[in-house]
Amino acid sequence: MILIRGSFMKTLMVYNSKGGSGKSTICTNLASYYAQSGMDVTIIDLDPQQSSMQWLKMRPISKPKITGTTSSSKIQKKKKDAIVIYDLPAAIHGDRLYNYLKKTNMVIVPVLPSPIDMRAASDFINELRKAGPVIRKKIKIGLVANRARAITNIFLELDNYLLKQKGFKYITALRDNTNYIKSAKTGLGIYDMGQAQTAQDREEFKPLIRWINSN
Ligand SMILES: Nc1ncnc2c1ncn2[C@@H]1O[C@H](COP(=O)(O)OP(=O)(O)OP(=O)(O)O)[C@@H](O)[C@H]1O
Ligand SMILES: [Mg+2]
Repeated sequence: MILIRGSFMKTLMVYNSKGGSGKSTICTNLASYYAQSGMDVTIIDLDPQQSSMQWLKMRPISKPKITGTTSSSKIQKKKKDAIVIYDLPAAIHGDRLYNYLKKTNMVIVPVLPSPIDMRAASDFINELRKAGPVIRKKIKIGLVANRARAITNIFLELDNYLLKQKGFKYITALRDNTNYIKSAKTGLGIYDMGQAQTAQDREEFKPLIRWINSN
């Protein structure tokens, strides 16, 4: 965190080695929350697929501004409260992953309720546990169940699995919902859409925002 008199800058990363787990969805929706709160928001999209950059291109000019960049070297000190959110590509491992982790003190790991995704999450969580002591001490890791369908057995399995991960905080479960599909299509986040239509999703994001703000 870079401290500048009267303002602060938070940096966080959304990562899971598994593709399609909801990294870009969580990045862009968090960005919409912080932009609506009046903060200076930057997404650093390090994924060659550029999902977050494409989302930003669709974002209506009338909505609070979010800056997008594809390189972390362009980040400058900010005059007001600022947040930098990294969208990482899938399948980064070893030293490359550890080098990215050095840039942040918070990592959010979305996990889908499917056996393949849970196995991949286990491998990734083990890899994070093996990161050197500097990284392990410095970063807080939060787990998020994504595309949850509450009454299904596989979601209950995921819920149990995430609760058991020692040293990793299981923060919240986000439901499987068309608001996120709409978000991906329009450049809006749930915080740019109607309150009533997104009330449950906002409720589910609350613990995540509280966790980020407290770190
Ligand atoms: N909670 C959700 N409800 C409904 N759809 C969702 C949800 N989360 C993600 N999706 C959809 O699932 C797809 C994959 O999500 P997303 O692109 O965020 O994953 P990713 O981890 O960034 O993928 P990649 O590894 O390819 O970068 C997208 O089409 C997205 O709109
Ligand atoms: Mg992505």
